[in-house]
Amino acid sequence: MFSKIIELEVNEKENSTRVIVVTSGKGGVGKTTATANIGMSIARLGYKVVLIDADIGLKNLDLLLGLENRILYTVMDVFEGQCRLDQALIRDKRWKNLSLLSISKNRQRYNVTRKNMQNLVSALTNLNFQYIFIDCPAGIDVGFINAISPAQEALIVTTSELPAMRDADRVAGLLEANGIYDMKLLVNRVRSDMIQKNDMMSVRDVQEALGVPLLGAIPEDNQIIISTNRGEPLVLKKKLTLSGIAFENAARRLVGKQDYFVDLNDPYKSFFTQFMDNIKKF
Ligand SMILES: Nc1ncnc2c1ncn2[C@@H]1O[C@H](COP(=O)(O)OP(=O)(O)O)[C@@H](O)[C@H]1O
Ligand SMILES: [Mg+2]
Repeated sequence: MFSKIIELEVNEKENSTRVIVVTSGKGGVGKTTATANIGMSIARLGYKVVLIDADIGLKNLDLLLGLENRILYTVMDVFEGQCRLDQALIRDKRWKNLSLLSISKNRQRYNVTRKNMQNLVSALTNLNFQYIFIDCPAGIDVGFINAISPAQEALIVTTSELPAMRDADRVAGLLEANGIYDMKLLVNRVRSDMIQKNDMMSVRDVQEALGVPLLGAIPEDNQIIISTNRGEPLVLKKKLTLSGIAFENAARRLVGKQDYFVDLNDPYKSFFTQFMDNIKKF
């Protein structure tokens, strides 16, 4: 009887943790930017969030969050018994319920197994993290398959360019082959001026071509580049830019706090009108 209760509690705890892999296929489409901004937004909504950096390329999560000088240990060190998990977990300077975990430093060998990743997620679940985001490396290889093994959900990031969409489509197939059916799409670097001139596919067309439910559309915004260089996610700005509003909108939709949708053909107008409507309500 007693053990049954404990078992139930454990199950409930497991159910309350969402493990979301952020992936794309093609590199440079905005995975890390999306992970940092959506993760930060969800932390600001009050949830305990950990961002796992499974990429070992350039411009990583630590830089985007301004935490690059704080990483002493990585998950590889934990696996090798060099340190404890809490020593590798870096708390954000601004929001203590947001933590960063790097899988590996640039020079370290990157060889996580499925079992390793699953153990890691279980340990994080026991630390009461409610959202675990895994920022994936570009490309589809063994590292990718292992990195996604503990996830139940995926956020596929793409731009509306054909090579990015083709890779996103491949990744969607791969995710399904690995048992991840709960996928959402984030279309990044949207330019409504180009869409209007028929020089860019609309968000709706991208979504229909990929057949994955849309979480959000993020406009092209130079502020994203500035915030990357400053190590401060865009969603922290006091006066949000359009892309900041778009990331917040996506984060709220992901946690189920907001269900309105953006006007797919005109995200600029739509985000702004919705935002102004919301302001008027208060
Ligand atoms: N919506 C956007 N508008 C402008 N620049 C962007 C946008 N999204 C991403 N970028 C820029 O594109 C580059 C690649 O983004 P990043 O998030 O590192 O991609 P990935 O993790 O998929 O490789 C970065 O320099 C980033 O600042
Ligand atoms: Mg990246």
